[in-house]
Amino acid sequence: MIPWELLDSAPVPGTHQELGLYKRGQEFSIRMGGREIMSSRAHGSEEALAERACARIASRPRPCILVGGLGLGYTVAAALQRLGPGGRVFVAELVPAVVQWNRGPLAHLAGYPLQDRRLTIMEGDVVRILQAKPRAFDAILLDVDNGPEDLIRKGNDRLYDRMGLEAIRAALRPGGVLGVWSAGPDRAFVQRLERGGFRVEEVRVRVRTRRPLGGRRHTIWLAVIPDRPQKSPLPTRRSLK
Ligand SMILES: C[S@@+](CC[C@H](N)C(=O)[O-])C[C@H]1O[C@@H](n2cnc3c(N)ncnc32)[C@H](O)[C@@H]1O
Repeated sequence: MIPWELLDSAPVPGTHQELGLYKRGQEFSIRMGGREIMSSRAHGSEEALAERACARIASRPRPCILVGGLGLGYTVAAALQRLGPGGRVFVAELVPAVVQWNRGPLAHLAGYPLQDRRLTIMEGDVVRILQAKPRAFDAILLDVDNGPEDLIRKGNDRLYDRMGLEAIRAALRPGGVLGVWSAGPDRAFVQRLERGGFRVEEVRVRVRTRRPLGGRRHTIWLAVIPDRPQKSPLPTRRSLK
């Protein structure tokens, strides 16, 4: 067995922890406090997050997408693949070193997405970025934690609470879609989304998308604010009688 080699490490803003970039043969892994947060071994569900959300906005002429966190670049690359030449992707990444890693040793993994001219990198907290951009995005894709209850950093709970969902709603264009990745289901979060006015679809996606299929599944939520309810139809002649 080839041992893991630590290539680099960097502090995570707002925590006392570090992210470490590890390599073993052709495989890469980003870890925090010894726990893996993203690996090049399996990335089907991270790509599915972008594919499913982009399918919902496919008819829009120049879609604009915000992705929160870069990781190994798979979600961003999948979004770019599904957008036409007029589309734009903004990616918010909290840890500047992750961006450097994606320009260097990780660049080839997802096919060099950072070289795409439709991509803009924003170093910083995705919470602040979406708060600063009302009605800017056709889709907001969040894969920054292990799930709404299993956070990389405490400050990220501002994405999933009532105020966070209001900020996300405000940053979406009418009919826009919120996509959230999670390692598993979370009934309380779905209820919060619904109470925030979102209509929610929950999708379970296989961790392993190549054969042999099987094993664990991850959870993706696709949430949209439905169009305003139709006004009740005008009374018919008969009902006016
Ligand atoms: C699980 S990885 C993302 C994996 C990515 N979907 C992919 O395809 O490789 C989570 C990323 O989110 C970043 N992150 C965590 N909290 C963040 C925040 N509040 N704002 C922006 N990025 C954040 C982490 O530094 C890490 O790069």
